[in-house]
Amino acid sequence: MGGHPAVSKVRLSGKETLTRMAHAFDQEDERFLQRALQLAELGGNRTSPNPLVGAVVVKHGKIIGEGYHTAAGCPHAEPEAIARIADPHDLKGATLYVTLEPCNHFGKTPPCTDLIIRSGISRVVIGTGDPNPQVNGIGIKKLLNSGIEVILAPDPKPYDRIIQAFTKGILTQKARVILKWAESSNGLIGYSDQRILISERRSQIFTHRLRQANTGILLGAGTILVDNPRLDTRLVAGHNPTKIVLDPQGRIPSQHPFFQLPGKKIYLNAQNTSPDIFQSPEALLAWLYQVHQINSVLVEGGAFVLNWFLKANCWDEIYRILSSKSIPETDQAVKAPEIVVSEMQLEIHPLGKDAVWHYTRRENSFPEVPVNLKLN
Ligand SMILES: NC(=O)c1ccc[n+]([C@@H]2O[C@H](COP(=O)([O-])OP(=O)(O)OC[C@H]3O[C@@H](n4cnc5c(N)ncnc54)[C@H](OP(=O)(O)O)[C@@H]3O)[C@@H](O)[C@H]2O)c1
Ligand SMILES: [Zn+2]
Repeated sequence: MGGHPAVSKVRLSGKETLTRMAHAFDQEDERFLQRALQLAELGGNRTSPNPLVGAVVVKHGKIIGEGYHTAAGCPHAEPEAIARIADPHDLKGATLYVTLEPCNHFGKTPPCTDLIIRSGISRVVIGTGDPNPQVNGIGIKKLLNSGIEVILAPDPKPYDRIIQAFTKGILTQKARVILKWAESSNGLIGYSDQRILISERRSQIFTHRLRQANTGILLGAGTILVDNPRLDTRLVAGHNPTKIVLDPQGRIPSQHPFFQLPGKKIYLNAQNTSPDIFQSPEALLAWLYQVHQINSVLVEGGAFVLNWFLKANCWDEIYRILSSKSIPETDQAVKAPEIVVSEMQLEIHPLGKDAVWHYTRRENSFPEVPVNLKLN
């Protein structure tokens, strides 16, 4: 493939065929693996704490089965794809494309490697390795040892990107965090006494897409009281995230419409929660991951909560939606959060009359997952 480095990152010995080399991975492989990636994304915000994974089975250049991990506790992508194949004889000599290294351990479901080996599939093309150091390379090795040809995508980035929340959860036991706000051209995000819409419709659709891709959505009491937001994904397909609200002083009255909103809610005040959770964003993220299996959180405001994360330099990505409109600067105007850290990358994407300023960590926003193969 043009543009991909023709370099193997995996040291091999003997007659093993594992490779990241470009010549073993052709345009057809790229196309089918990208299809598996599209399928993986259909898992949306339902798979946490598991990863998004997609799989495609191909025979004679045609897709004969596809599937994805639909939700935590449900079958993995590989058995989903294999189950769609009408005649199991078709599996003999077929190629499996899967975005993540197949598992080799018993969890809620049996190991996918056993199913693949039994099925007669003779070639497996994998997007990226499992980020868990105890698991990484083991599924691949099992397939290799049973005589299956295994190919790794020469560029694992797109496959690492879709599992960023899973990777952070596994490696740090904390949820990944994405900050998002809409800002007027004169640097305001709203008023403390009334609701105002700052971004335009296309940006709202973009926000709903972020919501369907993150397990939790987090807000402070101030925003619930002023904006009374619905916090759903009504403008796009997908599921609503869990609504998490921080209200240490219990300012939101029990008859507030927030408590009637459909879907899962985690409402935190000083009475029902350990005070540690309000001490630092890191403590909150650890609690959300370890107690609620939430591996990604979209923080939508307001100013206090966003600044709390920014001051602690606790974020993995920021979406700052800049409007071309200014709004009046009254005494109740709320200033946009300040981004103080410098170790970041910025990409600006126009979105109608708005612009999305997307900040990511310069160092390894999606660290490449090593494939740790110690053969012999
Ligand atoms: N443009 C946008 O994208 C956007 C998005 C959301 C909100 N907004 C705007 O933002 C404004 C609301 O901002 P805000 O700063 O007033 O409200 P906020 O950040 O939603 O909530 C702040 C309140 O949350 C509580 N809180 C949360 N975490 C806490 C912690 N760790 N420790 C102590 N207290 C904690 C505090 O309540 P107590 O004071 O009771 O202790 C604090 O006053 C509104 O004007 C809203 O329209 C704009
Ligand atoms: Zn599996």
